[in-house]
Amino acid sequence: MALLTKAPRGTADLLPSESHKIQYIEQTVMDVATAFGFHEIRVPVFEHAELFNRSVGETTDVVQKEMYTFEDNGGRSLSLRPEGTAGVVRAFLEHGLFNEPLPQKLSYLVSCYRYEKPQAGRYREFHQFGVECIGAASPAADAEIISLANTVFEAIGLRDISLEINSIGCPSCRKEYHKALKEYFTSKESELCGTCRDRLERNPMRILDCKSPICKEIAREAPTVLDYLCKDCQEHFDAVKSYLEAMEIPFSVNPRIVRGLDYYTRTVFEFVSSSIGAQGTVCGGGRYDGLVGELGGSPLPACGFGMGIERLRLVMENQGIDFPEAQRCNLYIVSTDRESSLEAARIASELRSNGICCEYDLCGRSVKAQMKHAGKLGADYTMVLGTDELSSRSVVVKNMQNGTTQELSLEDFSIAFLRMNIDQIVGDFSLDAPIEI
Ligand code: HAM
Repeated sequence: MALLTKAPRGTADLLPSESHKIQYIEQTVMDVATAFGFHEIRVPVFEHAELFNRSVGETTDVVQKEMYTFEDNGGRSLSLRPEGTAGVVRAFLEHGLFNEPLPQKLSYLVSCYRYEKPQAGRYREFHQFGVECIGAASPAADAEIISLANTVFEAIGLRDISLEINSIGCPSCRKEYHKALKEYFTSKESELCGTCRDRLERNPMRILDCKSPICKEIAREAPTVLDYLCKDCQEHFDAVKSYLEAMEIPFSVNPRIVRGLDYYTRTVFEFVSSSIGAQGTVCGGGRYDGLVGELGGSPLPACGFGMGIERLRLVMENQGIDFPEAQRCNLYIVSTDRESSLEAARIASELRSNGICCEYDLCGRSVKAQMKHAGKLGADYTMVLGTDELSSRSVVVKNMQNGTTQELSLEDFSIAFLRMNIDQIVGDFSLDAPIEI
């Protein structure tokens, strides 16, 4: 029976008492994306498994160990998406978005699925905010998406988050690098894990990304890709750095960043926080100039990033950043019988149409129990609507914070209540306060 009341390992429910935090994060990231000219795209939660094998890469941990792949009743091999980029690029090609003005600047909020060992900041179902800028080769595009992520962190008020960048070159300069890596790792072959011994032949760069502590230790002394960049890749990397400097976005170059997915070329970057322990990478991304062509389209340069929503929230909580309060009940109408309940329903629907959160009794509670319930909901105002109020057509509205009361007519109640609320809000502001632009 425990199976029925326990969520699968690595997943988490988002409870109503916490959902406003995620809503705030989601609203903020999408607002920033909009300000940068990105438009939302939504893609399915599952895709053909082959799409991820081809894009994320056969030799990555994600494809080899972490994908949720299943056969549907029609015999198709499908996978729950482990990340957002592959599906977005697939949709870009399927719907001919390459015929629209380029670059296409796409943003998304998606759930992702990876069979990883759960720990703080690492889950089997998690959520990403991501952007993809498809059709722009200039280093200005790399810098723009980095700036977008940076603006999100600024908007949220995050401290202690550092940007690390690297370039992993293009297929042509990477050939030399692969040769050097292969030579280095071959000398340590017997110490590598089984998966990495296989990677040695097929894709030695993936060894740099292995989670096994021994492979990690060996990888520390491996040659770094920055020493093998071709002239064009070096120039591109230098230009990205110049843009970041021009925008005053602090960064450091970390030649050890290779990223865990195969599609990257040239720029790769991560925003890392030390506030949440081992899983400190809140955002990761880079350029992937080969992917559109790899998936069957005419080659187009592209770049993007994915930001972990759960990790972002963890950092915010650990840094004591305030979230806006959840929407409270503005007015709770206490009713005494069927007739007053009908009037409460009428008033509530009018107020709700005007964006006021209004509630009334749905459980047939006594007046006392309704007052108690209004208290539990944290209602800003309450009012009792009974036989007397219905016959006099007036009610007394009570401010639950300071205990003050105000009598309002039932005839134009909604307008009067809205005005009262506005007066209250206006009263909270000092007229002398400078207006911030
Ligand atoms: P990624 O680095 O695999 O990149 O994931 C991006 C972010 O998702 C990570 O930095 C982290 O915050 C979050 N994340 C990843 N795995 C987990 C997990 N198991 N639990 C919680 N959070 C996690 C990508 O997915 C690429 N698609 C990013 C990209 C977009 N590159 C170009 N465009």
